[in-house]
Amino acid sequence: MYSSTSGGPPGALVRKVTAPDLRARKSVGPAIAMVTAYDFTMARLLDEAGVDALLVGDSLGMVVQGLANTLPVTLDEICYHGRAVARGAARAHVVGDMPFMSYQVSPAQAVESAGKLLKEGAFESVKIEGGEDFAEHVRRIVRAGVPVMGHVGLMPQSVHALGGFKMQGRGGDAASKIVSDARAIEDAGAYAIVLEAVPPDVAEKVTREVQIPTIGIGAGAACDGQVLVCTDLLGMSRGHTPKFAKKYADLGDAIVKASARYVAEVRGGVFPSAEHAFKPNDGGAPSLALVRS
Ligand code: KIV
Repeated sequence: MYSSTSGGPPGALVRKVTAPDLRARKSVGPAIAMVTAYDFTMARLLDEAGVDALLVGDSLGMVVQGLANTLPVTLDEICYHGRAVARGAARAHVVGDMPFMSYQVSPAQAVESAGKLLKEGAFESVKIEGGEDFAEHVRRIVRAGVPVMGHVGLMPQSVHALGGFKMQGRGGDAASKIVSDARAIEDAGAYAIVLEAVPPDVAEKVTREVQIPTIGIGAGAACDGQVLVCTDLLGMSRGHTPKFAKKYADLGDAIVKASARYVAEVRGGVFPSAEHAFKPNDGGAPSLALVRS
C-alpha cells in the first residue's frame, strides 16, 4: 500500500514495509531498526525517522499505564493503541503484541486473538512470547494468514515463573534451550524473532542457526536487528532503565524544563502574550485556526 504522507518530500509515495520485506533483510540487510510506539504522535515521528517496524508492545502496561509488569494488559488495549499507531505509520510495519492469556489457553484461542489484532487493531503482524511449547500456536496463526514475530529469551509475561526480569540462557543447558526454542518458532513459520536479554554469544549462535532475522534487545550486536522501548531511547523514562537501553536524547528533562517554564509564565502573566492571542481582524473562523496538522 502506498501513502502520500510523512517520511519524505511532500507528495512523495511511500511504500509500507511488509513482513516479507523484514524477513528478506536476513540475507541482504541493512539491520532492522524496530522501536515500540503507543500513540499517533510518537508513531508519526518514528516513522519520519525511518524506523522499519513499530511495535505496540505489551510494555504499554508499564510505560503508558504505570503498572509493575505487563500481565494485566488486554487485547482491547493493544487494539486501541494499534489503531492510533497505524494512523501515524506511513512506511513502518506495525506489529501488535499478543498479551498475557490471549493465546496461552490453546492454538484456537491464539488464532482468534491474532485475527482480532488485525481486524480491530489495524496491525500487519503479531508478536508472541514463547518457545517450543508455543510452536503449534504460531503454526496455526501463520496458517490463518497472519505473519508472526516470535519472542524468546526473557519473556516478561513469565516474570513470576522466572522470579523477576532476569537474563536468560546463561550456561550450557539454558543456552541450548534458547537455540531450540528459536528453531521451533522458525519451523512453525515465524518471519522474525525477538531475542530478549540473552548473552551475546547465545544471540550470535541463534542468529547463525536460524534463517529468519533475529531482533535483539539486550542481546548484543550479532542480531539482524535491534528493538528499544521508545521512552528509553528518547530518555523519557524515570527511575531504573536497563543497561542495554541506550539513551539517544534527554526528552524527559527537556519536557520538565519546558513545562516548568510554561508554569512560571502562566503564573507570572507572561503567557499568553499578544503574539499568541487572536486579533479582532484575524481572518477565518477561530475553529479553523485551531485545527492541528
Ligand atoms: O512489549 C515490548 O515492548 C516488547 C519489546 C521489549 C520487545 O516485547
